[in-house]
Amino acid sequence: MKMTDNELTKVQDLLRTKKERYCGEKSAVGASGVEDAEEKPTREDGCDPDPVPSTVSPSAYGITDSQIAKEIRGDSLKTEGRLSDVSSNDKVRQAVRQQYRRVAIADAGCDTGSGCCDASLANVGSVSQSLGYTTDDIGSVPLGANLGLGCGNPEAIAHLSPGETVLDLGSGGGFDCFLAARKVGTSGQVIGVDMTPEMVSKARDNAEQGGYRNVEFRLGEIESLPVADRTVDVIMSNCVLNLSPDKPRVFAEAYRVLKPQGRLAISDIVAFAELPEDIRGNMAFYTGCIAGASLISEIETMLHGVGFAQVRIARKDESLSFIRDWAPGTPITDYVVSATIEAIKLGN
Ligand SMILES: C[S@@+](CC[C@H](N)C(=O)[O-])C[C@H]1O[C@@H](n2cnc3c(N)ncnc32)[C@H](O)[C@@H]1O
Repeated sequence: MKMTDNELTKVQDLLRTKKERYCGEKSAVGASGVEDAEEKPTREDGCDPDPVPSTVSPSAYGITDSQIAKEIRGDSLKTEGRLSDVSSNDKVRQAVRQQYRRVAIADAGCDTGSGCCDASLANVGSVSQSLGYTTDDIGSVPLGANLGLGCGNPEAIAHLSPGETVLDLGSGGGFDCFLAARKVGTSGQVIGVDMTPEMVSKARDNAEQGGYRNVEFRLGEIESLPVADRTVDVIMSNCVLNLSPDKPRVFAEAYRVLKPQGRLAISDIVAFAELPEDIRGNMAFYTGCIAGASLISEIETMLHGVGFAQVRIARKDESLSFIRDWAPGTPITDYVVSATIEAIKLGN
């Protein structure tokens, strides 16, 4: 997918409006840049009041397979402003939010038996080791910060230095933020953004428990970041972009908040072949980090389209062994793989 000048201008106009609303705000749970957060009360017994069946059909959300496929491909950008597209994006985000609310409440895993939230509390450590984290990394963060939801180790490619400002897109329980906090030190700052209120609460509890003074968590959507322009040195993200129904906006927002010479250090699931419609349209595969993966060539086009340079997307073929376990008996490893995504915002 390639953005025309007209589409790019539209995104930039939209972001200017959003920026006026969000810049510099430090959001609190329930009072932030999330327009559609459903803050349904959590039952006292910890059960989700509005559970999502694991193999729910997209039609349960009022969306068709082809709409989902279109949103996932990022075609919504071409029709930005049409109510039907905006609301189907919101429906996708609501399904994702419901899934990760359940993970936050349960402490790990989605109970769906599929996708990136497959880990149980008992095996999050070994899942993380298979992604390249050391036992020291795993042991250094507050208990409950590592939910086993990643698909790579973005900190390993971020080359963080003391004093830097780091932004983590879709920060979950805060695992990568706490590791980054060690690297940037007390003169640096780490900001985690997540759209699931229960995840943000959990990450804030973890920060308090670990006594982190240089980490904060903001509630918000990565398509409308609650972060000021040109304030961030490094954007990290671990297994989140694939979940966005509007990836061009995520990249445009990332570009906006980065300082000149700022960099992207992302681990995510990408597609190396077109996913068949039955996988694309399956909501459990979508919330499980499989069906929303964009083609590598599309990601390159989106990144160049918003202005990034030195774009490097590297497949991590060793990930195919754990991705196979996300959906045993299905052909997903013929289509998706974990990859690192790096890019630079040029300028001074
Ligand atoms: C697969 S988990 C990864 C969490 C974390 N990065 C990790 O590695 O443990 C995805 C996280 O991204 C958040 N998320 C998904 N889509 C999002 C969006 N559009 N905006 C903000 N957060 C999002 C979810 O709430 C969830 O916490």
